Amino acid sequence: TAMSDAAEKPAKPHLPDAQIVQSVKHWTDRLFSFRVARPKTLRFRSGEFVMIGLLGETGKPLLRAYSIASPSWDEELEFYSIKVPDGPLTSRLQHIQPGDEIILRPKPVGTLVVDALLPGKRLWFLATGTGLAPFASLMRDPEVYEKFDQVIMMHTCRQVAELEYGRQLVEGLRDDPLIGEIVGEKLRYYPTTTREEFSHMGRVTDNLASGKVFTDLGLPKMNPEEDRAMVCGSLAFNVDVKAILEGFGLREGANSDPKEFVVEKAFVGDGI
Ligand code: FAD
Ligand code: A2P
Repeated sequence: TAMSDAAEKPAKPHLPDAQIVQSVKHWTDRLFSFRVARPKTLRFRSGEFVMIGLLGETGKPLLRAYSIASPSWDEELEFYSIKVPDGPLTSRLQHIQPGDEIILRPKPVGTLVVDALLPGKRLWFLATGTGLAPFASLMRDPEVYEKFDQVIMMHTCRQVAELEYGRQLVEGLRDDPLIGEIVGEKLRYYPTTTREEFSHMGRVTDNLASGKVFTDLGLPKMNPEEDRAMVCGSLAFNVDVKAILEGFGLREGANSDPKEFVVEKAFVGDGI
């Protein structure tokens, strides 16, 4: 699964709001990531999403919401994507190659931003599947480590292979010449699986509710004085995590009303 690079294809996009694909990496038969050139004028806050897509059969853009997985200081934009076999967009998007064009509407929005949380001691990122994407951005943002003493990334997938993108990202961070020193020992990573044997297992919800994750990491039980959280997964996951966080006394906030946690859907629908 070596990275291929942008060669031999035109360097300038033709479509409106188009960007050139720089590299593509396939992680499993259902997951891939890719990087595109960043529009010079695009500013965003780590954790936000944009609309991206391809030109549809009718000549109209076919767009979907995508979290930007790269941090706000990166020169390129990275995305982490599902491949839905009969999905209108991803059945085609999964075949993009370096040099191809994708459409990217440069209007970033979203609730998973540090500004939507009150100051705190620890920041929890709680994700399933491609819900990791906004945290792939936030985990690489120095602002997160300036504002919080500890950052905990909990990511749950069915299979071990589905954790690999996140695992490599976290591993690479510690040695990163740009932010390795800032991240240091502040980032704790707690990946689990639910349907394949792995060193740590169980749903995010179960590991929070039972207190297992606090014991394993040697941390106090989540509390509204010290802990902040960001949640990104399926609707069912988000609903269940929200209830648990509220049980710990945390309240849901928003950009306009910062509180102790924020939630965003990783996708609309029941999952594949
Ligand atoms: P769609 O018709 O959009 O989806 C078909 C069905 O596939 C859905 O009903 C759902 O059941 C399932 N599905 C769609 N997306 C996912 C997914 N990510 N994981 C599991 N099942 C899924 N997708 C990403 O891959 N990466 C992202 O960073 C990302 N960020 C998003 C941010 C927001 C705020 C929202 C609302 C969605 C995001 N999505 C993301 C989902 C994305 O918008 C599309 O749904 C996805 O690309 C599939 O598009 P499609 O046209 O192929 O199929
Ligand atoms: P499980 O295998 O026990 O269903 P999916 O692929 O269905 O989107 O799920 C991705 C991961 O999220 C799986 O590990 C799944 O666990 C877990 N999950 C699904 N729904 C929930 C939920 N409501 N609460 C917590 N975890 C969930």
